[in-house]
Amino acid sequence: MHKTGAIVLVGPMGVGKTTIGKKLAKRLEVPFVDTDVLVTKQHGEIPKIFAELGEAKFREFEEACVLAAIAAPAVVATGGGAILSEHTRAALGETKVVYLSTDGNHMAARLVGGNRPLLKDGLADWRRIYESRRALYEQVADVTVDTSGTSLKSLVELIATRLDEIV
Ligand code: S3P
Repeated sequence: MHKTGAIVLVGPMGVGKTTIGKKLAKRLEVPFVDTDVLVTKQHGEIPKIFAELGEAKFREFEEACVLAAIAAPAVVATGGGAILSEHTRAALGETKVVYLSTDGNHMAARLVGGNRPLLKDGLADWRRIYESRRALYEQVADVTVDTSGTSLKSLVELIATRLDEIV
């Protein structure tokens, strides 16, 4: 099946979806969209949404933003939990999906001072949540790239090459 223009980055919190996505978009000369930013623009800060409206409402907002973002050619960085939506997972079948995986080492430093309401217990929460979602990331991925110990520049080149191999 020929895939549409969006290139969607999925993977756990803090793996670098936004950082890598921005560089990849520049490299491929397409716009960059971050669905967490879209949710925030439309509905306010994410911790506040979780606290006042609950996670389920956040997931509704997130699903709508992901579906809107993937309709146009762009590199789209999603939130770590975007793949929890069955509707989103089905829609990702029409796009090129890059799963950014990690062995979890050096993750603690990346999560410090974050704005992530699901990580009350830091790294322990991060690990538990990643394990619970790993199969979903694998399910939607066209390309999987292990980010552990690889420089940003090499990762962007590797992803661009691997994307070229998808029809
Ligand atoms: C979440 C990940 C966050 C953000 C929200 C919930 C998750 O995005 O959407 O805090 O459930 O994994 P990042 O993956 O960009 O941190």
